[in-house]
Amino acid sequence: MLFRGKPGSRGEPCLSVGFEILATTISLLLTAMLAGCGGSSGGAGSGADSSLEQIAAVSLSPVAKLGEKIFKDRSLSASGKLACATCHNPDNAHAPANDLAVQMGGPDLMTPGFRAAPSLRYLDLTPAFSIAKDGKVTGGFDRDGRAQSLAVQAARPLLAPHEMANASAGDVVNRLKQTSYAKEFSQVFGSSALDNPDTALDRMTFALQQYQKEDPDFHPYDSKYDQFLAGKVKLSSAELRGLALFNNPNQGNCAACHTSKKGADGSAPLFTDFTFDNIGVPRNPDIPATADATYFDLGLCGPDRTDLTERTNLCGAFKVPSLRNVATRKVFFHNGRFKNLRDALGFYVRRDTNPEEWYPAAADGTVMKFNDLPDRYKANVNTTEMPYNRTRSLAPALSTPEIDDVIQFLGTLTDGYQ
Ligand code: HEC
Ligand code: HEC
Repeated sequence: MLFRGKPGSRGEPCLSVGFEILATTISLLLTAMLAGCGGSSGGAGSGADSSLEQIAAVSLSPVAKLGEKIFKDRSLSASGKLACATCHNPDNAHAPANDLAVQMGGPDLMTPGFRAAPSLRYLDLTPAFSIAKDGKVTGGFDRDGRAQSLAVQAARPLLAPHEMANASAGDVVNRLKQTSYAKEFSQVFGSSALDNPDTALDRMTFALQQYQKEDPDFHPYDSKYDQFLAGKVKLSSAELRGLALFNNPNQGNCAACHTSKKGADGSAPLFTDFTFDNIGVPRNPDIPATADATYFDLGLCGPDRTDLTERTNLCGAFKVPSLRNVATRKVFFHNGRFKNLRDALGFYVRRDTNPEEWYPAAADGTVMKFNDLPDRYKANVNTTEMPYNRTRSLAPALSTPEIDDVIQFLGTLTDGYQ
């Protein structure tokens, strides 16, 4: 079994609730005073004008400002070369700017990761992980939902041997003590904040969380589609055709999981319903771990997650990602198997009509469908809902010109439309 990070890094934070409430109150007060909209309520898609956004940008709480410095600081990694912002590049919708299936980390940047690095945009409204009585799985952070909050999540990359590769909380905090903002850290969190490594790491990850929640750069709601929903711009006819195909339950049916309509409260759509599904993405030989034929990334049921290994019906399911900014992504799906939207969408609609396009052939010539799952879990793949309910004898749910229209529409989900 591959070693995948320190078990201790996945624990609950020891942060006291009282402290969290205090910091949140301060940040809310500041935000309210400045009439900004940088709080975590961004769902309204207010389409605020740029002057308001500038006010919001300077209205980050002191905790969040510290979080921004930590987020961008390469000196907090063992290599001295990796910051959160390296893999979650603010100039590429907080996702990698390169097209590697997995990023390289570790002390010498020679250790490959296991999953494609996701965009960090529009995560602030993600609900906590839960499994409902009917078995529906929702929420949480990371592609398997294993982190209960952004703060819990943030400890993992700092400690993971294939990412920032600190050996311990003490190691992280020793690096923090060397930074130009160590003094500011003590001013914000108290003069003894750096004394205990575990407490200091909890404060750091809390600051990283507040930065991601408060800074409107992570959720600007200023795509062409947002402006279209606000009645400010028109979509082209190809974009409108794409939107209709995306929504149509008998064609793309994409909106069944990638929500495209405003919420009942007028909140802007996030293009995810936060659920999980198994869509049978092909194995990606570009991930070095796959050289071991017994290695499988099964999402909800492990190996990164360890609490649901018995729930074998969940094996192979991954979180539905938001499709906001999807046109800026360089690799797609949890294993980065596809490098462009045309292939990602072609896979969706021709997975079952033309499986030989996506999966390799066995020695006897049969197509190894769903080859990134052990045989016993292949029945978990969604084969009932559009667009996955096809067979070889049926037409794909979308034709090639229709795929082009959906791609045009997905292009309207990129932030920063002028
Ligand atoms: C070497 C690249 C790399 C670095 C550095 C890195 N991450 Fe990530 N990040 C990833 C990968 C890969 C995942 C997906 C992990 C998974 O699903 O198990 C991820 C997932 C996340 C998620 C969850 C996103 C979601 O959709 O639920 C958040 C939040 C996040 N990272 C924040 C951070 C923060 C904060 C830092 C800095 C402390 C950081 N990352 C550093 C690669 C990186
Ligand atoms: C039944 C739920 C469901 C439906 C319907 C659905 N998706 Fe998805 N989508 C997912 C899940 C789950 C993933 C993540 C799978 C993974 O990482 O293995 C995903 C991932 C994606 C990605 C990759 C995004 C990224 O950042 O890597 C794209 C693109 C995408 N979907 C587009 C579409 C389009 C277009 C449609 C309609 C043709 C559609 N989806 C229909 C559940 C769904």
